[in-house]
Amino acid sequence: MSVDIKQLKSIIRKAGELIRNVRLSPEQINSKDNRLDFVTKFDVEVQNFLESRFLENWPDYLFIGEEQEEHKFGQKGFIVDPIDGTTNFILGIPHHCISVAVMEEGKIVQGVVYCPALDEMYWAAAGEGAYLNAERLQNPDLPFNETVCGIGSSPYNAGLREPTVNMISEIMKRSDIRCLGSSALDLCYVASGRQGGYFEYEISPWDIAAGMLIAREAGATVTTIDGKEPPLDRNLTILAAGPGIYSEFQEILGF
Ligand code: IPD
Ligand code: CA
Repeated sequence: MSVDIKQLKSIIRKAGELIRNVRLSPEQINSKDNRLDFVTKFDVEVQNFLESRFLENWPDYLFIGEEQEEHKFGQKGFIVDPIDGTTNFILGIPHHCISVAVMEEGKIVQGVVYCPALDEMYWAAAGEGAYLNAERLQNPDLPFNETVCGIGSSPYNAGLREPTVNMISEIMKRSDIRCLGSSALDLCYVASGRQGGYFEYEISPWDIAAGMLIAREAGATVTTIDGKEPPLDRNLTILAAGPGIYSEFQEILGF
């Protein structure tokens, strides 16, 4: 049984209602092992809501969600970040989203990224293009000096601060940067052309699985920062850009 994307989008839109206009109280926020890595009552609620709806409708798909205690990866399933940009969500910054990728035979075949605060739904199906709500997306392939580049700060790995700052310095010789705090939306912004590129030294599969398909379907290139196919079962590096900026990144990174 394959996943009907209309039905999938409608379930995700309903999940978005659980986190629109929320004001958190301190007891609804917990820290994971790393003190900068938070989980709220709402991350868990959104994940539980999606898991129950998905298993009800598509019982032969695995459910892999960020907030599960153990992650059991496979070839066919949903890869879910119930809230990407949790720190933004806690601070009341509306730039956060729900990210859902559908994987079949080890490949992402559908992706949906929904920002409830702006009611912006990015989605794509393999071979069928990428969309923002009903509008078809195409990365405009602007040069570095006509756009900005999104940076992910790898906030949960202190050892990556210095390399990240060095990379920012390289990019700032060519372009301005943004550090918006949601990698799923960073990839969607590359798809739509709001950002010319995006890179981050350490990210989890649920942060990028859906956005990667959306950016690719809009004509951007998405790989690890050494030009390989991003793995979907472990932490990874990520680089996404229109073709022109991507080849400049290849020069900077030397691969
Ligand atoms: C984080 C965000 C952030 C990125 C981190 C991610 P989370 O996801 O996507 O932009 O820099 O690497 O882990 O923790 O909010 O789901
Ligand atoms: Ca998350």
